[in-house]
Amino acid sequence: MNLLLENKLNTELKKIFKSLNLDDKFAFVKVSDRADLSDFQCNGALALAKIAHKNPREIGESIAAELEKCDFCESISVDGPGFINIKLKNEFIAADIDKIAEDERLGCGLVENPHKVVLDYGGPNVAKEMHVGHLRSGVIGESIQRIEKFVGNDVISDVHLGDWGTPMGMILAEIEHQDGNLNKVDTYNIAQITEFYKKANARCKEDENAREKARIITAKLQDGDDNYRKAWGHLREESVKAVRENYKKLDVNFDLWWGESDAHETCGEVVKIARERGISEKDNGAEIIRLEESNKPKPPVILIKSDGGYTYHTTDIATIKMRADQLKAREIVYFTDSRQQLHFEQVFEATEKLGIAPDVKLQHIVFGTVNGADGKPFKTRDGGVMNLETLIEMSKDKVRQSLPQPNEVAGYGKAEIDKLTQQIAIAAIKFQDLKNTSASGYVFELEDFAKFEGKTGPYIQYAIARINSVLRKAKSGGLEEGNVILEAPEERVLALKLAQVHNVIMRAHTEKEPSIIADYTYNLAQVFSTFYNACPIMSAADKKLAASRLRLAKTVRDVLTLMLYLLGIEAPEVMLKAENKGD
Ligand code: ARG
Repeated sequence: MNLLLENKLNTELKKIFKSLNLDDKFAFVKVSDRADLSDFQCNGALALAKIAHKNPREIGESIAAELEKCDFCESISVDGPGFINIKLKNEFIAADIDKIAEDERLGCGLVENPHKVVLDYGGPNVAKEMHVGHLRSGVIGESIQRIEKFVGNDVISDVHLGDWGTPMGMILAEIEHQDGNLNKVDTYNIAQITEFYKKANARCKEDENAREKARIITAKLQDGDDNYRKAWGHLREESVKAVRENYKKLDVNFDLWWGESDAHETCGEVVKIARERGISEKDNGAEIIRLEESNKPKPPVILIKSDGGYTYHTTDIATIKMRADQLKAREIVYFTDSRQQLHFEQVFEATEKLGIAPDVKLQHIVFGTVNGADGKPFKTRDGGVMNLETLIEMSKDKVRQSLPQPNEVAGYGKAEIDKLTQQIAIAAIKFQDLKNTSASGYVFELEDFAKFEGKTGPYIQYAIARINSVLRKAKSGGLEEGNVILEAPEERVLALKLAQVHNVIMRAHTEKEPSIIADYTYNLAQVFSTFYNACPIMSAADKKLAASRLRLAKTVRDVLTLMLYLLGIEAPEVMLKAENKGD
Protein backbone atom coordinates (compact mmCIF):
# COMPACT_ATOMS: atom_id res chain seq x y z
CA MET A 1 0.00 0.00 0.00
CA ASN A 2 1.34 3.39 -0.94
CA LEU A 3 -0.59 5.88 1.07
CA LEU A 4 1.73 8.76 1.24
CA LEU A 5 1.55 12.08 -0.45
CA GLU A 6 5.24 12.37 -1.02
CA ASN A 7 5.44 8.94 -2.62
CA LYS A 8 2.46 9.66 -4.85
CA LEU A 9 4.09 12.85 -6.03
CA ASN A 10 7.33 11.02 -6.69
CA THR A 11 5.55 8.37 -8.75
CA GLU A 12 3.83 11.06 -10.80
CA LEU A 13 7.08 12.96 -11.31
CA LYS A 14 8.85 9.81 -12.46
CA LYS A 15 6.21 9.33 -15.15
CA ILE A 16 6.56 12.95 -16.26
CA PHE A 17 10.37 12.86 -16.32
CA LYS A 18 10.27 9.72 -18.44
CA SER A 19 7.77 11.21 -20.87
CA LEU A 20 10.01 14.28 -21.24
CA ASN A 21 13.10 12.14 -21.68
CA LEU A 22 14.67 13.45 -18.49
CA ASP A 23 16.76 11.32 -16.13
CA ASP A 24 14.23 10.17 -13.52
CA LYS A 25 16.90 9.82 -10.88
CA PHE A 26 16.09 13.47 -10.11
CA ALA A 27 12.34 12.91 -10.06
CA PHE A 28 11.61 13.36 -6.38
CA VAL A 29 10.27 15.97 -4.02
CA LYS A 30 11.25 17.01 -0.55
CA VAL A 31 9.12 18.62 2.10
CA SER A 32 9.29 22.34 1.37
CA ASP A 33 11.49 24.60 3.49
CA ARG A 34 9.05 27.40 2.75
CA ALA A 35 5.73 26.20 4.09
CA ASP A 36 4.26 29.60 3.15
CA LEU A 37 5.01 28.98 -0.54
CA SER A 38 4.49 25.27 -1.00
CA ASP A 39 4.07 21.85 0.58
CA PHE A 40 6.72 20.10 -1.49
CA GLN A 41 9.59 21.13 -3.68
CA CYS A 42 11.29 19.42 -6.59
CA ASN A 43 14.77 20.68 -7.37
CA GLY A 44 15.45 18.17 -10.15
CA ALA A 45 15.43 20.80 -12.90
CA LEU A 46 18.55 22.41 -11.48
CA ALA A 47 20.55 19.21 -11.42
CA LEU A 48 19.38 18.25 -14.91
CA ALA A 49 20.19 21.67 -16.33
CA LYS A 50 23.70 21.49 -15.01
CA ILE A 51 24.33 18.17 -16.74
CA ALA A 52 22.65 19.12 -20.02
CA HIS A 53 23.92 22.75 -19.99
CA LYS A 54 20.38 24.00 -20.40
CA ASN A 55 18.29 26.65 -18.75
CA PRO A 56 16.91 25.21 -15.47
CA ARG A 57 13.84 27.42 -15.53
CA GLU A 58 12.89 26.09 -18.93
CA ILE A 59 13.19 22.50 -17.77
CA GLY A 60 11.27 23.41 -14.61
CA GLU A 61 8.48 24.98 -16.68
CA SER A 62 8.13 21.92 -18.87
CA ILE A 63 7.84 19.64 -15.82
CA ALA A 64 5.40 22.02 -14.15
CA ALA A 65 3.21 22.13 -17.26
CA GLU A 66 2.82 18.34 -17.16
CA LEU A 67 2.21 18.33 -13.41
CA GLU A 68 -0.62 20.86 -13.94
CA LYS A 69 -2.52 18.10 -15.68
CA CYS A 70 -2.89 15.88 -12.63
CA ASP A 71 -5.80 16.47 -10.37
CA PHE A 72 -4.21 16.71 -6.95
CA CYS A 73 -2.23 19.95 -7.15
CA GLU A 74 -3.69 23.23 -5.96
CA SER A 75 -0.87 25.31 -7.41
CA ILE A 76 2.48 24.77 -9.10
CA SER A 77 5.06 27.46 -9.65
CA VAL A 78 8.62 27.59 -10.88
CA ASP A 79 10.58 29.95 -8.68
CA GLY A 80 14.09 31.32 -8.42
CA PRO A 81 16.57 29.57 -10.67
CA GLY A 82 14.18 26.64 -11.28
CA PHE A 83 12.68 25.27 -8.05
CA ILE A 84 9.32 23.67 -8.64
CA ASN A 85 6.99 24.53 -5.77
CA ILE A 86 3.96 22.35 -5.31
CA LYS A 87 0.91 22.95 -3.19
CA LEU A 88 -1.54 20.10 -2.86
CA LYS A 89 -5.32 20.25 -2.82
CA ASN A 90 -6.83 20.04 0.66
CA GLU A 91 -9.17 17.19 -0.28
CA PHE A 92 -6.22 15.19 -1.50
CA ILE A 93 -4.33 15.58 1.78
CA ALA A 94 -7.48 14.89 3.80
CA ALA A 95 -8.17 11.65 1.92
CA ASP A 96 -4.65 10.54 2.69
CA ILE A 97 -5.11 11.13 6.41
CA ASP A 98 -8.41 9.23 6.32
CA LYS A 99 -6.55 6.22 4.94
CA ILE A 100 -3.78 6.51 7.52
CA ALA A 101 -6.35 6.80 10.30
CA GLU A 102 -8.08 3.61 9.21
CA ASP A 103 -4.94 1.60 8.56
CA GLU A 104 -3.57 -0.72 11.22
CA ARG A 105 0.01 0.28 10.30
CA LEU A 106 -0.87 3.95 10.01
CA GLY A 107 0.05 3.96 6.35
CA CYS A 108 3.52 2.61 6.92
CA GLY A 109 4.89 0.19 4.37
CA LEU A 110 7.36 -2.67 4.67
CA VAL A 111 10.82 -3.13 3.18
CA GLU A 112 10.83 -4.66 -0.29
CA ASN A 113 13.28 -7.45 0.48
CA PRO A 114 12.95 -8.54 4.10
CA HIS A 115 16.01 -10.34 5.42
CA LYS A 116 17.56 -11.69 8.59
CA VAL A 117 19.35 -9.05 10.67
CA VAL A 118 21.40 -9.79 13.77
CA LEU A 119 21.75 -6.82 16.08
CA ASP A 120 24.65 -6.84 18.51
CA TYR A 121 24.09 -4.32 21.28
CA GLY A 122 24.42 -3.97 25.03
CA GLY A 123 27.70 -5.83 25.29
CA PRO A 124 28.14 -5.68 29.07
CA ASN A 125 31.02 -7.50 30.70
CA VAL A 126 31.01 -10.14 33.42
CA ALA A 127 31.96 -8.72 36.82
CA LYS A 128 32.07 -5.14 35.60
CA GLU A 129 29.40 -2.64 36.48
CA MET A 130 27.36 -1.43 33.54
CA HIS A 131 28.11 2.18 32.71
CA VAL A 132 26.44 4.79 30.51
CA GLY A 133 28.22 3.42 27.43
CA HIS A 134 26.41 0.11 27.85
CA LEU A 135 23.28 2.12 28.41
CA ARG A 136 23.63 3.98 25.10
CA SER A 137 24.36 0.79 23.22
CA GLY A 138 21.30 -0.87 24.78
CA VAL A 139 18.99 2.08 24.24
CA ILE A 140 19.99 2.71 20.61
CA GLY A 141 20.09 -1.03 19.83
CA GLU A 142 16.64 -1.66 21.30
CA SER A 143 15.17 1.15 19.22
CA ILE A 144 16.78 -0.15 16.03
CA GLN A 145 15.51 -3.63 16.88
CA ARG A 146 11.95 -2.33 17.05
CA ILE A 147 12.33 -0.27 13.87
CA GLU A 148 13.80 -3.21 11.93
CA LYS A 149 11.00 -5.52 13.04
CA PHE A 150 8.38 -2.92 12.22
CA VAL A 151 9.62 -2.49 8.65
CA GLY A 152 9.40 -6.25 8.18
CA ASN A 153 12.89 -7.60 8.72
CA ASP A 154 13.52 -10.81 10.62
CA VAL A 155 15.50 -9.64 13.63
CA ILE A 156 17.61 -11.45 16.20
CA SER A 157 19.17 -9.43 19.00
CA ASP A 158 22.20 -10.72 20.87
CA VAL A 159 23.72 -9.19 23.99
CA HIS A 160 27.24 -10.50 23.24
CA LEU A 161 28.39 -10.71 26.82
CA GLY A 162 32.07 -9.97 27.49
CA ASP A 163 32.88 -13.18 29.33
CA TRP A 164 36.06 -14.62 27.84
CA GLY A 165 38.98 -12.21 27.86
CA THR A 166 41.80 -11.35 30.25
CA PRO A 167 39.42 -9.66 32.74
CA MET A 168 38.18 -13.18 33.55
CA GLY A 169 41.71 -14.31 34.42
CA MET A 170 42.25 -11.10 36.38
CA ILE A 171 39.26 -11.58 38.64
CA LEU A 172 39.95 -15.30 39.20
CA ALA A 173 43.55 -14.45 40.09
CA GLU A 174 42.38 -11.78 42.51
CA ILE A 175 40.00 -14.16 44.29
CA GLU A 176 42.77 -16.74 44.57
CA HIS A 177 45.09 -14.07 45.84
CA GLN A 178 42.72 -12.96 48.59
CA ASP A 179 41.17 -16.32 49.55
CA GLY A 180 44.08 -18.64 48.83
CA ASN A 181 41.80 -20.75 46.62
CA LEU A 182 38.47 -20.64 44.76
CA ASN A 183 36.41 -22.55 47.32
CA LYS A 184 34.22 -19.62 48.31
CA VAL A 185 33.48 -18.32 44.82
CA ASP A 186 30.02 -19.88 44.81
CA THR A 187 28.93 -17.70 47.72
CA TYR A 188 29.82 -14.34 46.16
CA ASN A 189 27.07 -12.01 45.01
CA ILE A 190 27.37 -9.42 42.26
CA ALA A 191 28.43 -6.59 44.61
CA GLN A 192 31.30 -8.71 45.95
CA ILE A 193 32.25 -9.86 42.46
CA THR A 194 32.49 -6.29 41.15
CA GLU A 195 34.58 -5.36 44.21
CA PHE A 196 37.02 -8.19 43.39
CA TYR A 197 37.19 -6.97 39.83
CA LYS A 198 38.00 -3.40 40.88
CA LYS A 199 40.82 -4.65 43.12
CA ALA A 200 42.10 -6.93 40.35
CA ASN A 201 42.17 -4.03 37.96
CA ALA A 202 44.13 -1.85 40.37
CA ARG A 203 46.59 -4.63 41.16
CA CYS A 204 47.22 -5.50 37.50
CA LYS A 205 47.87 -1.84 36.70
CA GLU A 206 50.76 -1.78 39.15
CA ASP A 207 52.11 -5.29 39.23
CA GLU A 208 53.55 -7.14 36.23
CA ASN A 209 53.47 -10.43 38.17
CA ALA A 210 49.75 -10.07 38.75
CA ARG A 211 49.27 -9.41 35.05
CA GLU A 212 51.27 -12.49 34.15
CA LYS A 213 49.25 -14.60 36.56
CA ALA A 214 45.99 -13.28 35.08
CA ARG A 215 47.23 -14.18 31.58
CA ILE A 216 48.08 -17.72 32.63
CA ILE A 217 44.72 -18.24 34.31
CA THR A 218 42.88 -16.84 31.26
CA ALA A 219 44.68 -19.35 29.05
CA LYS A 220 43.90 -22.22 31.47
CA LEU A 221 40.25 -21.19 31.63
CA GLN A 222 40.01 -21.10 27.83
CA ASP A 223 41.78 -24.46 27.71
CA GLY A 224 39.03 -26.04 29.79
CA ASP A 225 40.57 -26.28 33.27
CA ASP A 226 37.71 -27.68 35.41
CA ASN A 227 38.35 -25.64 38.49
CA TYR A 228 38.54 -22.31 36.70
CA ARG A 229 35.61 -23.14 34.43
CA LYS A 230 33.42 -23.90 37.46
CA ALA A 231 34.35 -20.71 39.31
CA TRP A 232 33.96 -18.67 36.12
CA GLY A 233 30.53 -20.26 35.57
CA HIS A 234 29.34 -18.81 38.85
CA LEU A 235 30.76 -15.34 38.13
CA ARG A 236 29.07 -15.37 34.75
CA GLU A 237 25.73 -16.51 36.13
CA GLU A 238 25.64 -13.84 38.83
CA SER A 239 26.62 -11.15 36.31
CA VAL A 240 23.99 -12.23 33.82
CA LYS A 241 21.35 -12.07 36.56
CA ALA A 242 22.34 -8.50 37.40
CA VAL A 243 22.58 -7.43 33.78
CA ARG A 244 19.21 -8.96 32.94
CA GLU A 245 17.63 -6.99 35.73
CA ASN A 246 19.21 -3.75 34.66
CA TYR A 247 18.15 -4.15 31.07
CA LYS A 248 14.68 -5.23 32.12
CA LYS A 249 14.24 -1.97 34.03
CA LEU A 250 15.25 -0.14 30.89
CA ASP A 251 12.96 -2.27 28.72
CA VAL A 252 15.94 -3.33 26.61
CA ASN A 253 15.42 -6.87 25.34
CA PHE A 254 17.48 -9.62 23.77
CA ASP A 255 16.61 -12.82 21.95
CA LEU A 256 20.00 -14.36 22.63
CA TRP A 257 22.32 -14.19 25.59
CA TRP A 258 25.38 -15.50 23.80
CA GLY A 259 28.77 -14.44 25.04
CA GLU A 260 32.30 -14.38 23.72
CA SER A 261 32.82 -17.78 25.39
CA ASP A 262 30.17 -19.37 23.17
CA ALA A 263 32.43 -18.69 20.21
CA HIS A 264 35.35 -20.62 21.70
CA GLU A 265 35.03 -23.75 19.58
CA THR A 266 34.42 -21.78 16.43
CA CYS A 267 37.62 -19.80 17.16
CA GLY A 268 39.48 -23.05 16.48
CA GLU A 269 37.67 -23.42 13.15
CA VAL A 270 38.54 -19.86 12.20
CA VAL A 271 42.23 -20.47 12.90
CA LYS A 272 42.05 -23.60 10.75
CA ILE A 273 40.50 -21.70 7.85
CA ALA A 274 43.12 -18.94 8.18
CA ARG A 275 45.90 -21.53 7.93
CA GLU A 276 44.28 -23.33 5.00
CA ARG A 277 43.93 -20.07 3.13
CA GLY A 278 47.47 -19.15 4.01
CA ILE A 279 46.50 -15.78 5.44
CA SER A 280 47.82 -16.21 8.98
CA GLU A 281 51.44 -16.11 10.01
CA LYS A 282 53.50 -16.55 13.17
CA ASP A 283 54.78 -13.39 14.77
CA ASN A 284 56.77 -13.46 18.01
CA GLY A 285 54.99 -16.58 19.18
CA ALA A 286 51.55 -15.23 18.28
CA GLU A 287 49.48 -16.02 15.20
CA ILE A 288 48.25 -13.01 13.26
CA ILE A 289 46.47 -11.93 10.09
CA ARG A 290 48.07 -8.92 8.43
CA LEU A 291 45.68 -6.36 6.95
CA GLU A 292 45.96 -4.00 4.00
CA GLU A 293 47.32 -0.62 4.84
CA SER A 294 45.72 1.17 1.91
CA ASN A 295 44.33 4.23 3.63
CA LYS A 296 45.90 4.13 7.02
CA PRO A 297 48.23 1.80 8.85
CA LYS A 298 46.11 -0.91 10.39
CA PRO A 299 47.59 -3.18 13.03
CA PRO A 300 47.20 -6.91 12.34
CA VAL A 301 44.45 -9.04 13.81
CA ILE A 302 45.80 -11.29 16.53
CA LEU A 303 44.15 -14.69 16.26
CA ILE A 304 46.19 -16.46 18.95
CA LYS A 305 48.30 -14.71 21.56
CA SER A 306 51.79 -15.96 22.40
CA ASP A 307 50.35 -17.63 25.53
CA GLY A 308 47.93 -19.60 23.37
CA GLY A 309 44.76 -17.65 24.25
CA TYR A 310 42.26 -16.23 21.78
CA THR A 311 41.59 -12.50 21.62
CA TYR A 312 38.63 -10.14 21.38
CA HIS A 313 39.30 -10.17 17.61
CA THR A 314 39.11 -13.95 17.40
CA THR A 315 35.87 -14.28 19.37
CA ASP A 316 34.24 -11.57 17.27
CA ILE A 317 35.32 -13.15 13.99
CA ALA A 318 34.13 -16.57 15.18
CA THR A 319 30.82 -15.06 16.29
CA ILE A 320 30.29 -13.68 12.78
CA LYS A 321 30.80 -17.19 11.43
CA MET A 322 28.25 -18.59 13.89
CA ARG A 323 25.74 -15.88 13.05
CA ALA A 324 26.19 -16.53 9.35
CA ASP A 325 26.09 -20.36 9.58
CA GLN A 326 23.68 -21.00 12.42
CA LEU A 327 21.48 -17.93 12.45
CA LYS A 328 21.60 -17.39 8.65
CA ALA A 329 22.20 -13.68 9.11
CA ARG A 330 22.28 -11.49 5.99
CA GLU A 331 23.22 -8.39 7.94
CA ILE A 332 24.95 -7.88 11.30
CA VAL A 333 24.91 -4.49 12.99
CA TYR A 334 27.05 -3.58 15.99
CA PHE A 335 26.47 -0.71 18.38
CA THR A 336 29.42 0.49 20.43
CA ASP A 337 31.15 3.74 21.20
CA SER A 338 33.82 5.19 18.98
CA ARG A 339 36.70 3.59 20.86
CA GLN A 340 35.98 0.31 19.09
CA GLN A 341 36.01 1.68 15.58
CA LEU A 342 39.41 0.25 14.70
CA HIS A 343 38.53 -3.08 16.31
CA PHE A 344 35.55 -3.55 14.00
CA GLU A 345 37.43 -2.34 10.93
CA GLN A 346 40.02 -5.04 11.65
CA VAL A 347 37.40 -7.70 12.37
CA PHE A 348 35.42 -6.93 9.20
CA GLU A 349 38.52 -6.96 7.02
CA ALA A 350 39.78 -10.23 8.46
CA THR A 351 36.32 -11.76 8.00
CA GLU A 352 36.43 -10.82 4.34
CA LYS A 353 39.88 -12.33 3.90
CA LEU A 354 38.71 -15.52 5.60
CA GLY A 355 35.65 -15.70 3.34
CA ILE A 356 33.53 -16.98 6.22
CA ALA A 357 30.52 -14.72 5.70
CA PRO A 358 30.57 -13.64 2.06
CA ASP A 359 26.90 -12.70 1.83
CA VAL A 360 26.65 -10.89 5.12
CA LYS A 361 26.61 -7.11 5.30
CA LEU A 362 28.60 -5.99 8.34
CA GLN A 363 27.97 -2.59 9.82
CA HIS A 364 29.29 -0.80 12.88
CA ILE A 365 27.15 2.00 14.28
CA VAL A 366 29.45 4.19 16.29
CA PHE A 367 28.06 6.42 19.00
CA GLY A 368 29.60 9.25 20.95
CA THR A 369 30.12 9.44 24.70
CA VAL A 370 27.70 10.83 27.24
CA ASN A 371 29.34 13.84 28.86
CA GLY A 372 28.75 15.92 31.93
CA ALA A 373 28.42 19.71 31.86
CA ASP A 374 32.23 19.93 31.94
CA GLY A 375 32.43 18.15 28.58
CA LYS A 376 34.11 15.12 30.13
CA PRO A 377 32.54 11.65 30.38
CA PHE A 378 29.53 11.70 32.67
CA LYS A 379 30.37 10.98 36.31
CA THR A 380 28.55 10.72 39.61
CA ARG A 381 28.73 13.60 42.09
CA ASP A 382 31.67 12.00 43.86
CA GLY A 383 33.54 11.57 40.56
CA GLY A 384 32.88 7.85 40.02
CA VAL A 385 31.67 6.30 36.77
CA MET A 386 27.94 6.81 36.48
CA ASN A 387 26.37 3.36 36.56
CA LEU A 388 22.97 2.48 35.31
CA GLU A 389 21.33 1.90 38.64
CA THR A 390 22.33 5.36 39.91
CA LEU A 391 21.14 6.95 36.69
CA ILE A 392 17.72 5.34 36.91
CA GLU A 393 17.33 6.36 40.57
CA MET A 394 18.36 9.91 39.72
CA SER A 395 15.78 10.07 36.96
CA LYS A 396 13.07 8.70 39.25
CA ASP A 397 13.86 11.32 41.91
CA LYS A 398 13.42 14.05 39.31
CA VAL A 399 10.16 12.60 38.03
CA ARG A 400 8.72 12.29 41.53
CA GLN A 401 9.04 16.05 41.89
CA SER A 402 6.57 16.50 39.04
CA LEU A 403 4.09 13.86 40.22
CA PRO A 404 1.51 13.98 43.01
CA GLN A 405 2.10 12.00 46.21
CA PRO A 406 0.53 8.54 46.52
CA ASN A 407 -3.20 8.77 47.32
CA GLU A 408 -3.37 12.48 46.51
CA VAL A 409 -5.25 11.49 43.37
CA ALA A 410 -8.08 8.97 43.63
CA GLY A 411 -7.05 5.57 42.28
CA TYR A 412 -3.36 6.39 42.51
CA GLY A 413 -1.86 4.65 45.52
CA LYS A 414 1.82 3.89 45.98
CA ALA A 415 1.91 1.04 43.46
CA GLU A 416 0.31 3.12 40.70
CA ILE A 417 2.51 6.17 41.35
CA ASP A 418 5.61 3.93 41.43
CA LYS A 419 4.71 2.39 38.09
CA LEU A 420 4.12 5.79 36.52
CA THR A 421 7.37 7.10 37.99
CA GLN A 422 9.24 4.19 36.45
CA GLN A 423 7.62 4.64 33.02
CA ILE A 424 8.34 8.36 32.94
CA ALA A 425 11.88 8.04 34.35
CA ILE A 426 12.85 5.55 31.67
CA ALA A 427 11.24 7.71 28.99
CA ALA A 428 13.31 10.66 30.24
CA ILE A 429 16.58 8.74 30.08
CA LYS A 430 15.92 7.10 26.73
CA PHE A 431 14.55 10.15 24.95
CA GLN A 432 17.41 12.36 26.12
CA ASP A 433 19.73 9.80 24.56
CA LEU A 434 17.80 9.14 21.36
CA LYS A 435 17.06 12.75 20.49
CA ASN A 436 20.77 13.19 19.76
CA THR A 437 22.22 11.73 16.59
CA SER A 438 23.93 8.51 17.58
CA ALA A 439 27.31 9.53 16.22
CA SER A 440 27.57 12.66 18.30
CA GLY A 441 28.23 12.55 22.00
CA TYR A 442 25.91 14.62 24.14
CA VAL A 443 25.86 16.49 27.38
CA PHE A 444 23.55 14.97 29.94
CA GLU A 445 21.12 17.73 30.86
CA LEU A 446 20.84 17.00 34.54
CA GLU A 447 18.20 19.63 35.20
CA ASP A 448 15.93 19.37 32.17
CA PHE A 449 15.88 15.79 30.93
CA ALA A 450 12.93 14.71 33.08
CA LYS A 451 10.83 17.88 32.71
CA PHE A 452 7.31 17.68 31.36
CA GLU A 453 8.03 20.53 28.93
CA GLY A 454 10.64 20.89 26.20
CA LYS A 455 12.15 18.20 24.01
CA THR A 456 11.82 15.38 26.54
CA GLY A 457 10.29 11.92 26.75
CA PRO A 458 7.84 12.98 29.47
CA TYR A 459 6.62 15.85 27.25
CA ILE A 460 5.65 13.38 24.53
CA GLN A 461 4.04 11.04 27.05
CA TYR A 462 2.12 13.99 28.38
CA ALA A 463 0.99 15.00 24.89
CA ILE A 464 -0.36 11.49 24.34
CA ALA A 465 -2.14 11.42 27.69
CA ARG A 466 -3.76 14.78 26.94
CA ILE A 467 -5.15 13.43 23.69
CA ASN A 468 -6.35 10.32 25.52
CA SER A 469 -8.28 12.57 27.84
CA VAL A 470 -9.79 14.46 24.88
CA LEU A 471 -10.80 11.13 23.34
CA ARG A 472 -12.45 10.03 26.58
CA LYS A 473 -14.40 13.27 26.80
CA ALA A 474 -15.48 12.96 23.17
CA LYS A 475 -16.65 9.43 23.82
CA SER A 476 -18.70 10.37 26.83
CA GLY A 477 -20.08 13.32 24.84
CA GLY A 478 -21.19 10.90 22.12
CA LEU A 479 -18.90 12.33 19.43
CA GLU A 480 -17.57 9.96 16.81
CA GLU A 481 -14.73 10.55 14.43
CA GLY A 482 -15.45 11.24 10.77
CA ASN A 483 -13.76 12.11 7.48
CA VAL A 484 -11.03 14.69 7.64
CA ILE A 485 -11.89 18.18 6.45
CA LEU A 486 -9.09 20.72 6.24
CA GLU A 487 -10.23 24.31 6.74
CA ALA A 488 -8.01 26.09 9.25
CA PRO A 489 -4.32 26.47 8.37
CA GLU A 490 -3.42 24.63 11.60
CA GLU A 491 -5.39 21.60 10.43
CA ARG A 492 -3.55 21.59 7.14
CA VAL A 493 -0.12 21.86 8.75
CA LEU A 494 -0.97 19.04 11.12
CA ALA A 495 -2.25 16.80 8.31
CA LEU A 496 0.90 17.36 6.24
CA LYS A 497 3.02 16.46 9.24
CA LEU A 498 1.04 13.27 9.83
CA ALA A 499 1.45 12.31 6.20
CA GLN A 500 5.22 12.01 6.74
CA VAL A 501 5.00 9.05 9.09
CA HIS A 502 6.05 6.29 6.68
CA ASN A 503 9.01 8.20 5.28
CA VAL A 504 10.26 9.14 8.72
CA ILE A 505 10.34 5.50 9.82
CA MET A 506 11.96 4.40 6.57
CA ARG A 507 14.66 7.02 6.93
CA ALA A 508 15.35 5.98 10.52
CA HIS A 509 15.60 2.39 9.25
CA THR A 510 17.98 3.11 6.36
CA GLU A 511 20.19 5.41 8.36
CA LYS A 512 19.90 3.31 11.56
CA GLU A 513 19.21 6.57 13.31
CA PRO A 514 16.51 6.77 16.01
CA SER A 515 16.98 10.55 16.40
CA ILE A 516 15.06 10.98 13.13
CA ILE A 517 12.05 9.50 14.90
CA ALA A 518 12.66 11.47 18.09
CA ASP A 519 12.79 14.75 16.13
CA TYR A 520 9.63 13.99 14.22
CA THR A 521 7.81 12.93 17.37
CA TYR A 522 8.63 16.19 19.10
CA ASN A 523 7.64 18.27 16.07
CA LEU A 524 4.38 16.42 15.69
CA ALA A 525 3.52 16.96 19.38
CA GLN A 526 4.23 20.68 18.96
CA VAL A 527 2.22 21.00 15.77
CA PHE A 528 -0.64 19.20 17.49
CA SER A 529 -0.50 21.58 20.41
CA THR A 530 -0.79 24.59 18.06
CA PHE A 531 -3.68 22.89 16.26
CA TYR A 532 -5.48 22.09 19.50
CA ASN A 533 -5.22 25.68 20.76
CA ALA A 534 -6.65 27.03 17.52
CA CYS A 535 -9.17 24.33 16.66
CA PRO A 536 -11.46 23.21 19.46
CA ILE A 537 -12.99 19.79 19.04
CA MET A 538 -16.10 19.56 21.17
CA SER A 539 -17.08 23.18 20.49
CA ALA A 540 -16.26 23.15 16.78
CA ALA A 541 -18.61 25.10 14.48
CA ASP A 542 -20.41 21.98 13.31
CA LYS A 543 -20.57 18.26 13.92
CA LYS A 544 -18.66 17.30 10.78
CA LEU A 545 -15.76 19.55 11.68
CA ALA A 546 -15.74 18.20 15.24
CA ALA A 547 -15.68 14.63 13.88
CA SER A 548 -12.81 15.50 11.55
CA ARG A 549 -10.78 17.11 14.32
CA LEU A 550 -11.40 14.15 16.54
CA ARG A 551 -9.99 11.89 13.83
CA LEU A 552 -6.94 14.12 13.50
CA ALA A 553 -6.41 14.02 17.27
CA LYS A 554 -6.79 10.27 17.43
CA THR A 555 -4.39 9.74 14.54
CA VAL A 556 -1.81 11.98 16.18
CA ARG A 557 -2.20 9.95 19.38
CA ASP A 558 -1.68 6.71 17.45
CA VAL A 559 1.32 8.01 15.54
CA LEU A 560 2.97 9.42 18.68
CA THR A 561 2.39 6.14 20.50
CA LEU A 562 3.89 4.16 17.63
CA MET A 563 6.88 6.48 17.51
CA LEU A 564 7.50 6.16 21.25
CA TYR A 565 7.20 2.40 20.89
CA LEU A 566 9.86 2.47 18.17
CA LEU A 567 12.09 4.42 20.53
CA GLY A 568 11.49 1.78 23.22
CA ILE A 569 9.33 4.04 25.37
CA GLU A 570 5.95 3.29 26.92
CA ALA A 571 3.00 5.64 26.69
CA PRO A 572 0.90 5.61 29.87
CA GLU A 573 -2.84 6.09 29.27
CA VAL A 574 -2.98 8.82 31.92
CA MET A 575 -0.33 11.21 33.19
CA LEU A 576 -0.56 13.11 36.43
CA LYS A 577 0.99 16.44 37.30
CA ALA A 578 1.82 17.62 40.79
CA GLU A 579 0.31 21.10 40.38
CA ASN A 580 -3.13 20.39 38.99
CA LYS A 581 -3.37 16.82 40.20
CA GLY A 582 -5.16 15.55 37.15
CA ASP A 583 -4.90 15.33 33.42
N1 ARG B 1 31.93 -6.05 25.79
C1 ARG B 1 32.34 -4.96 24.96
C2 ARG B 1 32.66 -3.73 25.81
O1 ARG B 1 32.19 -3.57 26.91
C3 ARG B 1 31.31 -4.58 23.93
C4 ARG B 1 30.88 -5.68 23.00
C5 ARG B 1 30.46 -5.18 21.66
N2 ARG B 1 30.09 -6.25 20.76
C6 ARG B 1 30.98 -7.05 20.11
N3 ARG B 1 30.53 -8.00 19.34
N4 ARG B 1 32.27 -6.87 20.24
O2 ARG B 1 33.40 -2.87 25.36
